[in-house]
Formats: sequence, structure tokens, C-alpha cells
Amino acid sequence: MAPTIPLLTPYKMGNFNLSHRVVLAPLTRNRSYGNVPQPHAILYYSQRATEGGLLITEATGVSDTAQGYPETPGIWTKEQVEAWKPIVNAVHEKGGLFFCQIWHVGRVSNNGFQPNGEAPISSTDKGVTPGLDGGDWSPPRRLTTDEIPALVNDFRLAARNAIDAGFDGVEIHGANGYIIDQFLKDQVNDRTDQYGGTLENRCRLALEIVEAVANEIGRDKVGIRLSIFANYLECGDSDPEALGLYMAKALNKYKILYLHVIEPRMVQVGNIFETPYSTLPMRKAFNGTFISAGGYKKDDGNKAVADGNADLIAFGRLFLANPDLPKRFELDVELNKYNRATFYIQDPVVDILIIRFLRGDDDV
Ligand SMILES: Cc1cc2nc3c(=O)[nH]c(=O)nc-3n(C[C@H](O)[C@H](O)[C@H](O)COP(=O)(O)O)c2cc1C
Repeated sequence: MAPTIPLLTPYKMGNFNLSHRVVLAPLTRNRSYGNVPQPHAILYYSQRATEGGLLITEATGVSDTAQGYPETPGIWTKEQVEAWKPIVNAVHEKGGLFFCQIWHVGRVSNNGFQPNGEAPISSTDKGVTPGLDGGDWSPPRRLTTDEIPALVNDFRLAARNAIDAGFDGVEIHGANGYIIDQFLKDQVNDRTDQYGGTLENRCRLALEIVEAVANEIGRDKVGIRLSIFANYLECGDSDPEALGLYMAKALNKYKILYLHVIEPRMVQVGNIFETPYSTLPMRKAFNGTFISAGGYKKDDGNKAVADGNADLIAFGRLFLANPDLPKRFELDVELNKYNRATFYIQDPVVDILIIRFLRGDDDV
């Protein structure tokens, strides 16, 4: 008998019956022209769908102030909701489960992405260093206390729209230096109102969004992604272990479906560093499904599941380059290598040879 592959064992996530534990991580692709998802995404997502497999969309804006990168999708207008429908249907036709990652970039933006050229909004008026990660970041405007309910409401409405578009649930993007992270982390959040200072105060926005979204669509359809240990886009914390544990415990109150955590080794996007930190205390503290992501290959993914350190493993770059990733794990065949040059380009069908030629590779 073939040995069991832990990543390919079934798992019951709330009301959802997953046939395996290989999740598509959220991956921004910058191909949703005018913030509207395009028909080519039908092929992209359905290629990665499997019977009983969980897919998470690329980060999807909750409002007209939520963008900071070119051509990322949104879910705040009727047109966007309609455009998502055939994409969701195609994933469902293949038996996949599909969650929409709902997102607000906060200060990771510039005036050009904002309505009327206004300043991006954040917990703070401290900006990201212009030029960092290649972005032309503008100085942000600190939200006043009485503006925060409207931001929470944008997440609530986006979640409602996601359900209307047919998604099975939403993942609240609380990671990677975007607006929720800008409230969570003490190296960015310098507020003196009830949304800043103590751990309880810094976590308040995240938890208000969780509560509003759970009340709107049902707690059994809500997950949240956190990157407690990372400092992407200058969004770090002086005591990530305490922050992670506080959030994991606080989330239990809302009984949401899952907590999706980026491993501490992903200190920077794309680079692995060993750190003294572990997600295990968060895993143990949180009562729902625990998804782990960040730098996984088949072997350490299997080990994390077998050891009980995670219920599900999200794969980003490997799933991007290998649409049939679960099948390749099953057959134990070689994986395609990912190509960074194609990650964020706006053309969905670019010949890889052209890219390599333009880059000046010798072997074209
Ligand atoms: C092209 C690309 C786009 C990404 N977009 C998102 C995103 O929209 N939302 C998000 O939470 N993380 C995003 N990430 C992070 C991935 O979800 C994942 O955490 C990261 O790639 C590490 O996992 P991996 O080693 O399996 O690729 C992105 C990463 C890449 C490479």
C-alpha cells in the first residue's frame, strides 16, 4: 500500500469537507483592469481548483480608497460583483471551495490610486519610505476615531458582496503591512485614542472588522490572515509573540472558521530567514482551523500536518507555477520552478521567452 501523504488527507473545516490540505494562498496578479476581475481569471482559478480543495483569491479591495497597486481587483461595486460570478462558478464547477481575500492597503498607496488624488488613509501619518519595494508611496493621513466605523463597514459590505458573488466565505487580510497590520503593530500605530497604545487597543480594529463581517455573513464563513512576525513595508512589532497570542485568543470569542498565519521565517516577502519565533503558541491558543503559509515545500508541509502544527498548508509561489500542485504531490513528480518576472505583470499570457529575452538572459 502506498504510504499516506498527510497533505492529501481529508479535513473537515467547519461545514466544509476538504478532500486535501493543499490551499491556494492569496496571490496578487495585477491583471484586473480598472479594478474589475477579468474573464482570463476563470481559467487561472479553475486550473487550480480541485474537488474539495480550498482556494483563496488574490487580495481584493473593499473600497475606492483600498488600492495601492496597478490593476488589482475590487469587490465594492456591482460591476465587480458581477465580474467575479463566472470565476466563482468555474471553481465551483470543479468542486472547489473559494474564499475571497478582502483588503485595504492603508498607507501602502499613493495619491494617484486615491479618489480625487487624496492622501492614503492609515492608523498614522507616518509614511512608508518612498521607493521601498519599488513603490511611490505617498504620506498617509491618520484616520480620526470617528472615521473608523466607516472603514469597518467597508469590510462588512465587501463580505456581503463576496457572498452575493457566490464565494463560500471571506478571508480578512490582516497581514503584510496593510491597513489592519498598520493598526496591530506598534512600530506603525502611534495613536493615542482607543485604537492605539495597548495590545487591546491596537487589536480593536481587527476584531471590530471580524465581528462585523461574522455578523454579516456568518462566523462559519470567515477567516483572517495575519503576519505577526513579519515587518513587510516597515510594519513590525516590538513583541510579536504577545501580539500573536493576544489575537489568537481574542479571535476565539468570535468563533470564526480559520486563522491563517504566515510563518515567522518569511520575515520578508520571498526570502526565508530562520528566527527564534514559532506559530505553535498561536496554533494551540486558537480553537478553529489553523492554516500555515510561507516557504513550504511538500516535505515540510507534510511534516507540519503530521505533527499537528497546522491543519492546512497554503502554497503561494509553487501553486502559481504548478496549477496541478495537489496532483504533483500525489504523483511525487517534479515541480515547475516559479519565475518572479511573471508574478506581477499585467499581461496574463506573456511568452516566457519574451520575458527572458527582454531581461537579457543568455540562454534564450
Ligand atoms: C506574486 C505574489 C503575490 C502575493 N499576493 C498576496 C496577496 O494578495 N495577499 C496575501 O495575503 N499575500 C500575498 N502574497 C504572499 C503569499 O500569499 C505567501 O504568503 C507567500 O508567497 C509565501 O508563501 P510561498 O513561499 O508558498 O510562496 C503574495 C506573494 C506573491 C509571490
